[in-house]
Amino acid sequence: MNYQTRTLTLNPDQLSGLSNRLITSHYENNYAGAVKRLNAIRSELAALDWSTAATFTINGLKREELIAANSAFLHELYFDNLGGSGVLPSCGLSVALTRDFGSVEAWRSQFTGLAKAMGGGSGWALLSWSSRESRLINHWAADHTHLLAGATPVLALDMYEHAYHLDFGARAGAYVDAFMANIPWDKVYKRYGAAVEADALAFGIDLDAALSRSQGALDVRREEDYLQSGQVIHGASWRDPSRVHEWSQALDASRPTLLYCLRGKDIGRSTVMALRARGIDARYIVGGIEAWQAAGLPLETQGGAA
Ligand SMILES: [Fe+2]
Repeated sequence: MNYQTRTLTLNPDQLSGLSNRLITSHYENNYAGAVKRLNAIRSELAALDWSTAATFTINGLKREELIAANSAFLHELYFDNLGGSGVLPSCGLSVALTRDFGSVEAWRSQFTGLAKAMGGGSGWALLSWSSRESRLINHWAADHTHLLAGATPVLALDMYEHAYHLDFGARAGAYVDAFMANIPWDKVYKRYGAAVEADALAFGIDLDAALSRSQGALDVRREEDYLQSGQVIHGASWRDPSRVHEWSQALDASRPTLLYCLRGKDIGRSTVMALRARGIDARYIVGGIEAWQAAGLPLETQGGAA
């Protein structure tokens, strides 16, 4: 069955600093062209007599299939990365960027620096969740094929000249800045959350199991959520999830660590994965402190017993 071209869901008239002409040309010529090429290559592969085909024919078709497929898939991600305000609010993703790059600004500086360094050439600047390293990472990808093994791209910036030359000519840096101003961060956050969830699901424990282990648990809610609530789970103490690389050094790796966040989603899950990458047997409470509270389980006032 042929791969189907995905509909362009963004409105190309509503982007800031990127023209309808540029986006439409990019979608119709480069993205749709990659899908068409992918289907044509797969037709040839389907008709191939693999026992008699020349090795260079097999090599060539399989290489071109990978290039066309990744071009199609990364373009879909790219167009899905446009149509927003470019403003990243304080959320689990800003916590993750701070954790893995030092600050959101440091991440932005590295990501745009990587993209601008590709100006005049070709390739992709990608922000990916690396399951192997349990962290977000910026990386370069050329020829649509240099993806990081075991990583899920959550933000894709196309640095092929066709992505900007109609509007920007050789001014690749101005294009990068325009791209950044159109990112729908809510969508990037969802992709990140799904990637983390897939890795961490096996390490969630339910309320019943957590009840007997809550003494010494770590509260890793965002600082504002923690301060606003005034309470922690009985016997727990707070740690800043964006500084896990610092406080984890003081943990006893020979003992299991139980933690929780507000709802048991990406912050708790990714903190568990960051700790597990350091050899610590970390688990998170499914549903977080919200589920704990809803079940009527014991809380205490921050800084002392209730
Ligand atoms: Fe492109």
